Amino acid sequence: MTESTTRHGAGPDRGTGAVVVVAAALLDRGRLLAARRSAPAELAGRWELPGGKVEPGERPEDALVRELREELGVEAETAERIPGEWPLKPGYVLRVWTARLLSGEPRPLEDHDELRWLARDELDTVDWLDQDRPAVAEAARRLPGV
Ligand code: C5P
Repeated sequence: MTESTTRHGAGPDRGTGAVVVVAAALLDRGRLLAARRSAPAELAGRWELPGGKVEPGERPEDALVRELREELGVEAETAERIPGEWPLKPGYVLRVWTARLLSGEPRPLEDHDELRWLARDELDTVDWLDQDRPAVAEAARRLPGV
């Protein structure tokens, strides 16, 4: 890979300087995976799409595959970028991809203390982080209707 493709989208976004946090709308058998954060204290108990920070030199999609391996113990692949970008704390932005499981059953290995597979009509049964809500709503459109 050339330097330019290796660096594309990696670490701090080259346009804005913001650190990119990637998260997955992991879809399997008509359900979306929700993960309950165990830390830090101000976020503990809230639910999110699993993911984490892109490291310098890393493609966002590769970062997401790595984070899902580390946090959930699964192999997954990204499918489709959910359009949009959402601000987190100052200097951080959230980007979301749909993803599918290749192998393994997700377990809360890191950062989370509970996981739930939610059908479309169950998505509002957990308290999502505010910044994840637009992407969750968009991911819901990819789930079978009720
Ligand atoms: O998981 P990690 O701590 O690396 O995430 C970095 C930041 O991104 C945290 O502030 C976390 O709250 C935020 N985040 C988020 N929504 C996600 C994943 C991470 O707001 N789905």
